[in-house]
Amino acid sequence: LAGSFETGSLAGCRVLVTAGPTREAIDPVRFVSNRSSGRMGYAVAAAAREAGARVTLVSGPVALDGPAGIERVMVETAEEMRVAVQAHLTGCDIFIGAAAVADYRPAQAAAQKLKKHNATLSLDLVRNPDILAEVARAHPRPFTVGFAAETEDLDANARTKRMQKSLDMIAANRVGPGQGFDVGDNALTLYWEGGSESLPHQSKTRLARELIARIAQRFHDAPP
Ligand code: CTP
Ligand code: CA
Repeated sequence: LAGSFETGSLAGCRVLVTAGPTREAIDPVRFVSNRSSGRMGYAVAAAAREAGARVTLVSGPVALDGPAGIERVMVETAEEMRVAVQAHLTGCDIFIGAAAVADYRPAQAAAQKLKKHNATLSLDLVRNPDILAEVARAHPRPFTVGFAAETEDLDANARTKRMQKSLDMIAANRVGPGQGFDVGDNALTLYWEGGSESLPHQSKTRLARELIARIAQRFHDAPP
């Protein structure tokens, strides 16, 4: 058995994975976030480890245990995730951005708990850095894989995202009530330069193994 790990498709490779949501503080007790459970990213990290890679998992707040044999770095905000990713990028062969990074954060977190003085409340939000796009712009860069969470126009949106962020591969999934986020199973369509493939609906554990197999194949055939 040990031999099959050593000769796995990612033996000797270093893989960096982001997973889970991020939390962006509104005040000391409230935050902006999303429905990501982290399960897809954790399954991807575990599958990369099974394939023989040395895996670092940078994780937002989730209710999951760290997979065995993996270095896990816990973060809360997008900015913290960005710093942790940059700190672990050296020597990384493959980057897989599975985190549901909050696109915006409150322009300023209130120092004290907000009081309900008015009938309505507006929050000023500012854009967070795009961690995945930054990794793809690095020199040298790892084989860079992103996810695309979409509620509509899956195919067109995923292709555009892959091109705009110069990704080696993108894995697109539908999200919405009972789909994609916060459920145990999922389906993915993969896009790369000159090709695409749909992986059927199945448990995130099995889906992650299929995804890792495709990534390993493309990484060896067409390194970045
Ligand atoms: N991502 C990231 N940093 C961000 C936003 C997104 O690293 N600040 C990564 C995600 O981990 C994912 C990919 O970018 O791998 C796409 O995320 P998604 O939310 O689907 O797309 P966005 O580029 O954020 O665009 P939009 O939300 O407008 O569709
Ligand atoms: Ca987004």
